[in-house]
Amino acid sequence: MGSLSCLLMVILPLFYTVAFACSNGVCSRLLDECSSDGDCSAGLYCSSCPFGFIGSRCVRSSITDQFKLINNSLPFNKYAFLTTHNAYAIDGEPSHTGVPRVTFTNQEDSVTQQLNNGVRGLMLDTYDFDGEVWLCHSFGGECHDFTAFEPAIDTLKEIEAFLSANPTEIITIILEDYVQAPNGLTKVFTNAGLMKYWFPLSRMPRNGQDWPLVSDMVAQNQRLLVFTSIKSKEQSEGIAYQWNFMVENQYGDGGRKSGICPNRGESSPLDDKSKSLVLVNYFRTTPLKLITCEDYSGDLINMLNTCYGAAGNRWANFVAVDYYKRSEGGGSFQAVDTLNGKLICGCDDVHTCVPGSTSQACSKK
Ligand SMILES: *[C@@H]1O[C@H](CO)[C@@H](O)[C@H](O)[C@H]1NC(C)=O
Repeated sequence: MGSLSCLLMVILPLFYTVAFACSNGVCSRLLDECSSDGDCSAGLYCSSCPFGFIGSRCVRSSITDQFKLINNSLPFNKYAFLTTHNAYAIDGEPSHTGVPRVTFTNQEDSVTQQLNNGVRGLMLDTYDFDGEVWLCHSFGGECHDFTAFEPAIDTLKEIEAFLSANPTEIITIILEDYVQAPNGLTKVFTNAGLMKYWFPLSRMPRNGQDWPLVSDMVAQNQRLLVFTSIKSKEQSEGIAYQWNFMVENQYGDGGRKSGICPNRGESSPLDDKSKSLVLVNYFRTTPLKLITCEDYSGDLINMLNTCYGAAGNRWANFVAVDYYKRSEGGGSFQAVDTLNGKLICGCDDVHTCVPGSTSQACSKK
């Protein structure tokens, strides 16, 4: 081969990429090379995965909205939701205490960005700190000025703004709760303007029944589900105790061992069907941003299959991850599309469910 054609073979693909970049009217597609987010089609962003692929490529950055693609007329527990672990522990969050923060992060986007990209479950750690409720990393149930992220009200106000702007969406908040101040949570949820969306404890099924229909939750504007890890708050504040309604696998490295899906200590065994919701954790004990992209490809789907079996043939409703946008292509978004396909119509991907169909026929796509 002549050196000229050799040269063309090397440089032509580069021209191709440039010629079809978004800025020239046509956008790069999944796994095409890119140099900035603006090169990628809607729903994708430009990212790298050093051990997964060479250079920067367009990978998914947002979810398929299952309610809009299919419908919202099934019970809440027949859908799956992307969930961010430690949703508040965000890179670049400035210190609000005057003391530089010395702790790890789990996410890269603001809570508003997470919600706009389709995250619908938020795991938050709540503490008494400085006379208020704060979101914080800590040990032994105590928040310190060097581990505090922000006052909970700030994040709750972002959630309020999203629910207000998106009147058919539902958000679930799962609290690792260390707040001891009497009515501390009630006060902060009230001050954030969130009580008007509150899904009442009395409507949550306790014996394995289906949840209300999403369409009904939307019609009644009961679009915020809040779970606490403190049992007594059901009595004192009417806030659902998570383990009465949900089963959950082990978190951290203990939840990433291929082929097994043990329950975390606080949860009933996964196959306890008196709890109608199933949550699968899939993140490392120590978050490692650069290799996270590889975790959310085959490994996550495999674990969802393993946990399906462990949960008595029930697909997860919530998938909790760190750095939710990191992937080699479809990542956590593809995993949730798979879960919604399974839950809604028995197909491997929600895109292959035939809208409105009651049959289990999966369309070819
Ligand atoms: C909503 O979609 C499901 C799954 O395809 C289907 O079984 C159900 O009949 C649909 N409901 C309406 C009202 O279209």
